[in-house]
Amino acid sequence: MKNKIIISERIKPFNKILKIDGDKSLSIRWALLASQAEGKSKSSNLLKSEDVINTLECLKKLGIKIKFTKNICEIIGKGLNGFNYTKTISLDCGNSGTASRLILGLLTHSKSKIKLKGDKSLSKRDFLRVTKPLSKFGARFITKAGKLPITIKGTNFPKSISYRETKGSAQVKSSLMLAALNTPGTTVIKASKSRDHTERMFKYLKIPIRLKTYKKYDLIKIKGKKKIKSFNYKIPSDISSASFFIILTALSKNSKLIIKNVNINPSRVGILKILKLMGVKIKIKNTKFYKGEKIGDLLIIGNNYLKPIKCPVSLNSAAIDEFLLLFVAAARANGVSYFKNLSELNQKESPRLIWGSKILNKIGIKNKVTNHSIKIYGNPNLVIDKKIIIKDYLKDHRVFMTACIASLIFGGRWSIANSEAINTSFPSFLKKIKYLGAKIR
Ligand code: S3P
Repeated sequence: MKNKIIISERIKPFNKILKIDGDKSLSIRWALLASQAEGKSKSSNLLKSEDVINTLECLKKLGIKIKFTKNICEIIGKGLNGFNYTKTISLDCGNSGTASRLILGLLTHSKSKIKLKGDKSLSKRDFLRVTKPLSKFGARFITKAGKLPITIKGTNFPKSISYRETKGSAQVKSSLMLAALNTPGTTVIKASKSRDHTERMFKYLKIPIRLKTYKKYDLIKIKGKKKIKSFNYKIPSDISSASFFIILTALSKNSKLIIKNVNINPSRVGILKILKLMGVKIKIKNTKFYKGEKIGDLLIIGNNYLKPIKCPVSLNSAAIDEFLLLFVAAARANGVSYFKNLSELNQKESPRLIWGSKILNKIGIKNKVTNHSIKIYGNPNLVIDKKIIIKDYLKDHRVFMTACIASLIFGGRWSIANSEAINTSFPSFLKKIKYLGAKIR
């Protein structure tokens, strides 16, 4: 097995303060919007992970100047559709669904053909969800069954569109919002609930956007062709990365953790709400607002007792990247938990509903999985004393990190392949679990 790590000891109680890497969604959005702004934008604490680096590399190939000095990233924007490149170029988005889908939105107006490719995991994912609506703007695509590699040829005469987004995908919604930026007229998107960072950044940038929020969907109207002023941004910490430590602490008796400066945007805090329903003690302190986003410090207090949950479907979208971890929490709960309407999980970097079930099987937790739901028969006394091997999971960063957290909570002798997977979203993950006391070989 390549780059495997061995964990064979449970973590001892800890009482620490942590700072987590920058938010991935915000880092990618800042970079893409800075490329469309007029002149120099700067960000600090930009996440330096492969997904973000790949985004920056794609922008460089599109003729955008980017410079890193210490913790500051500088992008010289060239205005709407100001990309400048030699005829046929090829962009490699690596593992990043967000980078690839959002960049396609910006390329709706590209002057010549551009090829987009990705790694093995990204090449298995669905792109019809973006090529279909982007075609309505006038862009044309060459693709086999809506998968990467995809060649896009933009249009000189984009038409504004009206579109109903039904998957609850922020990537699809944001791709269309970026396409709308340089399209004359008003684009209308009726979108099922998903994270709303793009809307908040558009508002902060004074891009003409009107928003109406309903219980099950949001109505977004964007008037195109408005110039964007350059802007500086200090990226807060990523709640999805913080979640590995939230679960580790919540399930470790006598442990306590403070995580500083986390982005607690209401469309991202599903994990906090679900864990509270399961009886976990979590407090949010020092809340403040920053350029449309909400930020705070999280205090988590460990406990051994967790209530099972029938997870409210209304919380799914706000916890979409955290379900593997929530399944680990449900494994420890005192009863049967049920999660449903989660077919989108199988569309992620790996089929995560299936991988959630596989991890539970490996640790001896009974579960029943369908293509959209999982029932988990928790065991509050679960302690593992056997060898567990995790491999062949398409190097899904969240599968790797979830396996590490489960090993530290439940014990057993774990051998987990492809530790380089953390570089996708959270390069300092292993350093941070060691700081809390984990022993890793
Ligand atoms: C993201 C949206 C989510 C999430 C992904 C990041 C984003 O994907 O899973 O990790 O930054 O827009 P979907 O929009 O496809 O659900």
